[in-house]
Amino acid sequence: MIDGFGRKAEYLRISVTDRCNLRCQYCMPDKGVTFRHHEEMLRYEEMLRLVRILAKAGVKKVRLTGGEPTVRRDLVWFVRQLSEVEGIEQLALTTNGLKFCEMAEELYDAGLRAVNISLDTLNEEVYRQITGHYGAKKAVDAVNIALRTGYRVKVNCVPIKNVNARYLPEVAYLARDRAVDVRFIELMPIGCGQSFEGVSTEDVKLILKNALGDFREEADYFSERQAGPDLSGPAKYVRFKDFEGRCGFISPMSDCFCDRCNRLRLTADGYIKPCLYSAEKVNVCSLLRSEASDEDILEAVSSVLRNKNQRHSFGEAVPGPERRRMNEIGG
Ligand code: GTP
Ligand code: 5AD
Ligand code: SF4
Repeated sequence: MIDGFGRKAEYLRISVTDRCNLRCQYCMPDKGVTFRHHEEMLRYEEMLRLVRILAKAGVKKVRLTGGEPTVRRDLVWFVRQLSEVEGIEQLALTTNGLKFCEMAEELYDAGLRAVNISLDTLNEEVYRQITGHYGAKKAVDAVNIALRTGYRVKVNCVPIKNVNARYLPEVAYLARDRAVDVRFIELMPIGCGQSFEGVSTEDVKLILKNALGDFREEADYFSERQAGPDLSGPAKYVRFKDFEGRCGFISPMSDCFCDRCNRLRLTADGYIKPCLYSAEKVNVCSLLRSEASDEDILEAVSSVLRNKNQRHSFGEAVPGPERRRMNEIGG
């Protein structure tokens, strides 16, 4: 599947639920949040049918997101089914890590091989300020357990001014003695993210250099591309001296990567979104629950992909901007 600008869609992000066991301030408000009803959510069988259709059309990687994917029942069963879909070469999960600790082994047995763990600070008080709960230690446990189990592990940290910015070197330090990629992500003005001020990649690099010394850019900083088809994400990587793992930077605000976008998103209520930001979408839930054939469904997805915008327009006034919160889109 190719969009109107020649980009290949090979990577599907599935939000399996809009629910979460945390309340990160920049993602989902603590009060007044309404969740979709059970029947409005796609069933796993429906998601599987769609993945089979899209795998035949070139999708090779599936990442499960949320909300928090581990809070949806029978996730292990779903992962096992996905791992058996012909054409899906990589299966990954993005999680806050809290429930993942107890599920790491069975998910691995079911076929999951890569996990991205969100961890904005190691300081418990600041973690609680951001997420509403204590859990920093548990999230670090999740990183360690994931490594021990054999996963490829990345850590996601969203720096926020006057909140966790002071604590970033500690997070980067996780990569000192561990084979993990610690990525710093520029806050995007989506949903609740609009009420906070992120820190630019340039400023994060300065904070890290002051604390940890110089780094070198990885020769091929999109080095995930070495593994077969280009299923890599948007991070650019560097390595600090004597660090086993890498530090990465995801810079949607200061260094737009839309020209390399290889993604499609499926929301938990069954919409395919070609772009995280744009409100453009197609309701595959209603197609899956109608008489539509696999060909009809593929045509509907291809058609919305053909209209995919060239790049995001964060901060610009656009007609019909996305109003969904991040927990409904899956990041
Ligand atoms: P992998 O390369 O598969 O590890 O994916 P990833 O790093 O993109 O996935 P992850 O779910 O860990 O997301 C990390 C951050 O990147 C989150 O803040 C996402 O919102 C952001 N992100 C992921 N994909 C996109 C994208 O297509 N556009 C933008 N602007 N941000 C994205
Ligand atoms: N901007 C950037 N990243 C965000 N995330 C959630 N909301 C935002 C935002 N507005 C991150 C989470 C998690 C990943 C799935 O997306 O911290 O690591
Ligand atoms: Fe939950 Fe992730 Fe949103 Fe935090 S960023 S509230 S962990 S879905």
